[in-house]
Amino acid sequence: MLEIRNLSKSFQGLQVFSGIDLTVEDRPGEKSPLIGVIGPNGAGKTTLFNIFTGYAKADGGSVIFDGKELLGKKPHEIVRAGLTRTFQSTLAFRQLTVKENVLVAAYLHEDFSFLERFIYPLVSLKLTQKKTRDAQERAEKVLSMVGMLDDMDMVSGNLPYGKQKKLGIAMGLATEPKLLALDEPAAGLNPHETAETMELLQEINRGGTAVLVIEHNMKLIMTACERIYVLSGGRIIAEGLPQEIAKNERVIEVYLGKGMTAHA
Ligand SMILES: Nc1ncnc2c1ncn2[C@@H]1O[C@H](COP(=O)(O)OP(=O)(O)O)[C@@H](O)[C@H]1O
Ligand SMILES: [Mg+2]
Repeated sequence: MLEIRNLSKSFQGLQVFSGIDLTVEDRPGEKSPLIGVIGPNGAGKTTLFNIFTGYAKADGGSVIFDGKELLGKKPHEIVRAGLTRTFQSTLAFRQLTVKENVLVAAYLHEDFSFLERFIYPLVSLKLTQKKTRDAQERAEKVLSMVGMLDDMDMVSGNLPYGKQKKLGIAMGLATEPKLLALDEPAAGLNPHETAETMELLQEINRGGTAVLVIEHNMKLIMTACERIYVLSGGRIIAEGLPQEIAKNERVIEVYLGKGMTAHA
C-alpha cells in the first residue's frame, strides 16, 4: 500500500534522516494494517509524515502509494489518492463549527470538475446536490464515530483540547482515506482520553482503513499496533512486533532508557 524507499532529508545542510525504508502492507483478505512509528523528540517523525503527505520535499528516495509515486504531488492530490494525515496540533478553522470543519474536509475529497461546472450546468446541479448530500451524511457519520455528534454546532475554537484532537481525526476520516496517518493523536491527553483514542484508532482500523500512527505513549503504541518502526539518530534502528520492540537492546538504550517509560 505504502512503500517508502531510501528516503533522505536535511534542513540547511543538517541531516535529519537518510536511508529510511518503511512499508505498510495491505494483503487482500487480511485485516487492514495498523502500524506504529516511535522515536525520541526531534528524530524526524513529523518530517517523515510531512514528506509523504506533500508538506515537505525529500532530498532523495521514493514514496509509492497504491502503485504511484507521491513525491512531487501536492497535499490535496495525496488526499484524493487516499492518504490523509492528521497534525500534532489540530488544523481546524477556529471560527467554524465542528460540523462545518468536517464538511470542509469532506469536500476536499470531492472532485467538482470543470466539465460538471461549466459544460453541463443542469447535470452539474444534480451532481452537486448529490455530492452535498453525500458530504453531509459523511460528516455526521464520522462525528458519530468519534463521539462528537452532540458537539456538531459548537464553534471549534471553544472545544476543550481533547475534543480538538478528536475533531482532527474526524476531519481526516471525512476524506475517506485508504490510509490514515496520525501524528501523536494522544499527545497532551489524560489517561481516559488516551484510552478512548486508542479504541478509536482500532475501531477505524477494523472498519477497513489502514492506520500509520506516530506516538509517544508507549502503552498506546504497544497495545494498538501490530508492527512498530523505531526512528532514531536519522535511521530506522528497529522494526517488528511490539513484544520484539519492547525487548530490543538498541531501542531500550536510545529510547526507553531516556525516560520514555514515564509516558507509559
Ligand atoms: N522546517 C524546518 N526547518 C528546519 N529544521 C527543521 C524543520 N522541521 C523540522 N526541523 C528539524 O528536524 C528535526 C526533526 O524534527 P521533527 O520531524 O519535528 O521530529 P519529531 O517529530 O520526531 O519530534 C529536528 O531537529 C527539527 O528541529
Ligand atoms: Mg513530531
